[in-house]
Amino acid sequence: MRNLGMRYLVLVGGWVGFIGGGWAEALAQSTQKPPAQSAQKQPTRSDLASSIRRKEHLVLGRKVLVQQGCTGCHRLDLDRHIGPGLAGLWNKPRAIQRGGKRLHAIADREALLRALREPQSEIREGYAPVMPAYRLAAQEEEAILAVLRDLSEPQKLQEARTKGTVSLWHVILGALLFVFGHLGLSSLAVRRRLSDRLGNGAFQGLYSIIALTAMLWMSWGWSSAPYVELWVAPAWTRYLPLLGMPVVCVLFVLGVSTPSPTTAGQENRLSAQDAVQGILKITRHPSLWSFALWGMLHIPTNGDLASVILFGSVTFLALVGMAHIDARRRATQGEAWQAFAQQTSALPFLAVIQGRTRLTRKDVSLLRLSAALVVYVALLYTHTLFVGVSPFPYR
Ligand code: HEC
Repeated sequence: MRNLGMRYLVLVGGWVGFIGGGWAEALAQSTQKPPAQSAQKQPTRSDLASSIRRKEHLVLGRKVLVQQGCTGCHRLDLDRHIGPGLAGLWNKPRAIQRGGKRLHAIADREALLRALREPQSEIREGYAPVMPAYRLAAQEEEAILAVLRDLSEPQKLQEARTKGTVSLWHVILGALLFVFGHLGLSSLAVRRRLSDRLGNGAFQGLYSIIALTAMLWMSWGWSSAPYVELWVAPAWTRYLPLLGMPVVCVLFVLGVSTPSPTTAGQENRLSAQDAVQGILKITRHPSLWSFALWGMLHIPTNGDLASVILFGSVTFLALVGMAHIDARRRATQGEAWQAFAQQTSALPFLAVIQGRTRLTRKDVSLLRLSAALVVYVALLYTHTLFVGVSPFPYR
């Protein structure tokens, strides 16, 4: 018991340390000074005239961006939406797919014009090939290019970064509430005290509200967080979620549809004849494994800080949650739990390999497996719509 407590402490400490790192990054960004203005010479009359022309050009460019629907898919800062944020693009390298090959290329004037006129020829990595081709008047194209260039001015970029930094805080705070809200509220001491005071129904309500708020907060923060690159994901990492998600769907669908004593509110199933059945013979925490695996599969292919915090928090909570539930059941259900734990394992297939349980044909439900497949296909085809990023490695 004490041993488990120590391991908990080390795990929780490690994760707090990691999130603390994100915190430091957010802090460092928000305290960065804008670059000092270089000493400027007095503007001449012709400088003023050209500056007014430039401003008019930019105004036209922004108007075109709105009229043509560009801003429906692109934000004029660093944040990604359906397409990449348009700030900081000008003359910067980025990873693209051209003719089935992945390469790093500079987004110069020619490349940006190509992106506009024939977007299918080069696809920015990590995005769906959904941008329509545009045939615009030369003046409109020039005006758009002027805006793109303007959005990459160091000062504008700095503004965009500090704006985005607010969001990084949201991922961090949302993740902390998500992990520690769950662990805190379900720890025996807190749970007993609160449900004595509030009543069980109100306690469950509070729990759900906190869990949902934390999840929405964290996901919203993630979707609008600045892109702080930790590593450049190699193309093969995109196959991990593509190939691994069917397993996640099976674990999830079978997990939520199989009555289990590890599920909240079903503790009394420990004494049921068929307490150990179906997917529970493979692992006693199928749905938690689905969350853990979902997170682990998505981390390598998203090499940015906000994603690592989001997917890492879900993985972390799912893994610690398994140990947490086991410890609580052991403390409250005594021998009935021991008997169940003896025939099952948290680690998938361990109990089967050790001969503590046997899988039979009766444990395989074709109906549930088909439902899992349907969920997988549905996720695959709604991913771009809801997340804005295509789940397919190549078109
Ligand atoms: C339906 C959504 C959508 C619309 C509308 C749209 N884009 Fe895009 N755009 C994307 C996506 C997604 C990408 C990334 C995939 C790609 O490279 O095609 C992209 C890529 C780009 C790129 C290239 C970025 C890079 O790094 O290579 C530029 C520039 C661009 N869009 C500008 C525009 C402009 C300007 C308009 C309006 C005239 C516009 N887009 C309209 C979705 C859209």
